[in-house]
Amino acid sequence: MSGLWLFCRAGFESDCAAEIQDKASQLGVYGYCQAKAGEAFVVFRCQAEEAEHLASKLPLKELIFTRQWLVILAEMDLPAEGDRVSPILTCVAENQQRLGLLGELTVTTPDTNEAKSVAGFTKKFTVPLRQALRGASLLSQKPLAKRPSLQVVFINKVRVVVGFSFSFNQAPWAGGIPRLRMPGDAPSRSTLKLDEAFSVFVAKEEHEQRLQSGLRAVDLGAAPGGWTYQLVRRGMMVTAVDNGPMAESLMDTGQVSHVREDGFRYLPKKRNVHWLVCDMVEKPARVGELMTEWLLQDYCKEAIFNLKLPMKQRYLAVNEYLQHIKEQLQNEGHGRFELQAKQLYHDREEVTVHARWL
Ligand SMILES: C[S@@+](CC[C@H](N)C(=O)[O-])C[C@H]1O[C@@H](n2cnc3c(N)ncnc32)[C@H](O)[C@@H]1O
Repeated sequence: MSGLWLFCRAGFESDCAAEIQDKASQLGVYGYCQAKAGEAFVVFRCQAEEAEHLASKLPLKELIFTRQWLVILAEMDLPAEGDRVSPILTCVAENQQRLGLLGELTVTTPDTNEAKSVAGFTKKFTVPLRQALRGASLLSQKPLAKRPSLQVVFINKVRVVVGFSFSFNQAPWAGGIPRLRMPGDAPSRSTLKLDEAFSVFVAKEEHEQRLQSGLRAVDLGAAPGGWTYQLVRRGMMVTAVDNGPMAESLMDTGQVSHVREDGFRYLPKKRNVHWLVCDMVEKPARVGELMTEWLLQDYCKEAIFNLKLPMKQRYLAVNEYLQHIKEQLQNEGHGRFELQAKQLYHDREEVTVHARWL
């Protein structure tokens, strides 16, 4: 049976399943989920046409717990030795009418240690598979942006899922994980979280405008400065609010002013802040309210913040927090806005939210 194959963080399969079931039913598709804790993926079983319908009509960016997805073409066991390209080639050829020319190929694994142990093999396997697909005129000679992408997922060395996603509704990274470099001089590892959030929430072609040098930013709960580092790196002027110490290297840039104050009380003197970012470890409802207030009062244009997740029913809980923010922005706001949330690769028991006026 066909369906959708969804990548998520290991341990969050039930949240990913609850979410896809909910969103699919809103589009009139009633399937069922197969998920095992720790496998880092969920299969949503439904008819092939329904899976394709969801993959094109349900925006991936509206899913919080799904990093990447594919419409399943086949799930198969490959021979442990010998020719492993041909079975995949045959499967794609059988679906050629449905797919047309494919624009790209990704070979990847779910995000678990076990699956990642075959990552070296998948890298090597990509080359002969790509050549064979091109040789059979199933895959374009150069990556084509406006054609479906073929995704091949190795669950282990033998078990493989073959599927596709639409170029207009997929994450641009294999498995939905952007490859980011940890800067050697960043004060903390959580710097990658904000770097990833910018990659996920701000379209690449808008980086020049929305992440440009000279913009003003406020970082609430900034110490030691991993998030501030990302803002400074992009040339912004940052007010870092935290009672804790900020890294000297950041203070030396002259782009940071450190305010030792309660982040829940601090307000900027002027309404010239573009980015508000907040990594204070606090009750999600309280953080949500603070962020909403900044947006409603026009203290900032865009906000990125973390919401800690409860132990259980995390999809329901996060939906509730977001709904509350949405209603307030709708009822008390002054225009159109965008509100998105994602459990990023660098997030653990939390999700990252982006909100902005349009
Ligand atoms: C997870 S750390 C932030 C890490 C930071 N984003 C980085 O990348 O280096 C949380 C910070 O929030 C600060 N914090 C917690 N509650 C706060 C409050 N009410 N006002 C200001 N800072 C607060 C803590 O002092 C701590 O430094």
